[in-house]
Amino acid sequence: MQTIGVIGAGQMGRGIAQTVAAHGMKVLLADIDLATAQASLDVIDRGLAKLVGRGKMEVAEAESLMGRISAVADYTPMADADLIIEAATEKEPIKQAIFEKAGEILSQGAILASNTSSIPITRMANYSPDPERFIGLHFFNPVPVMGLIEVIPGLATDPQVTERTVAFAEGLGKQVVLSQDEPGFVVNRILLPMINEAVFVLGQSTASIEDIDKGARLGLNHPMGPLQLADFVGLDTCLDIIMVLYNTTGDSKYRPAPLLQKYVEAGWLGRKTGKGFYDYSGEMPVATR
Ligand code: 3HC
Repeated sequence: MQTIGVIGAGQMGRGIAQTVAAHGMKVLLADIDLATAQASLDVIDRGLAKLVGRGKMEVAEAESLMGRISAVADYTPMADADLIIEAATEKEPIKQAIFEKAGEILSQGAILASNTSSIPITRMANYSPDPERFIGLHFFNPVPVMGLIEVIPGLATDPQVTERTVAFAEGLGKQVVLSQDEPGFVVNRILLPMINEAVFVLGQSTASIEDIDKGARLGLNHPMGPLQLADFVGLDTCLDIIMVLYNTTGDSKYRPAPLLQKYVEAGWLGRKTGKGFYDYSGEMPVATR
């Protein structure tokens, strides 16, 4: 059985771990400590229990899936992994520390991948022992449901590593878009300016939160409006990505909406904190402006 290491047990790491385990592979899940990784495992377990309750999954399938994921205290057990996927916070110093530490145990021939939303792969490859075996592997939230993975080779990535990574992504039942290592890759380069613009529209009081989202849902057939989606992704993550686009290109079209910065400064980060453009404390989300 193939073994995959996942570092970062938040929203994305959890989704990646669940999806990989659902496809018969063994997952080692790490975070800052064992308790955090273990708590994340419990969240996956509760999610599977819901699917079982709704008749979407058999109990035995959920149990065998959970049996393939182990929380680990540090990266040492990942010395056996064929692929290690970093899915930590979108902060470069945090990712750098992870790649340096993971590099110490990465086995010969194994691939080190980053689920970064926008940080340049070529630059981060230098934090790993072998830039030829470093690659971007960008999942979409919710990972078990979304059908796409972006694969982003850096300048030094060995073409065989790209091929193996594409095969891995396809093996998860996903379709692949290959992107050059340019800021925001393909999807976030399109999505984040849209979300940022929606926040400008809100900041200029052009329309209410509900109407901006209604406009995109009914006028564009998007499953979620941009402000609802921003809450889903996390407003801090949205700001981090738009800042990467702004700083790496120097193009003023990516300047962050002041209101987005304000929400992040308030700690209103979206669903994960219970409040963002909507307040999630009641039965139904309620707009916060
Ligand atoms: N595991 C397995 N299945 C799951 C699941 C999970 N964790 N969570 C949900 N599902 C399944 C449900 O069982 C359901 O299956 P069914 O269609 O067979 O009944 C299906 O997914 C849809 O779930 P729900 O019925 O609960 O919810 P909705 O129909 O309202 O859909 C949504 C929810 C899929 C999140 C939809 O609103 C959507 O597609 N939203 C947009 C998401 C999006 O744009 N994501 C990308 C964000 S950008 C990104 O991630 C990149 C990053 O870098 C920023």
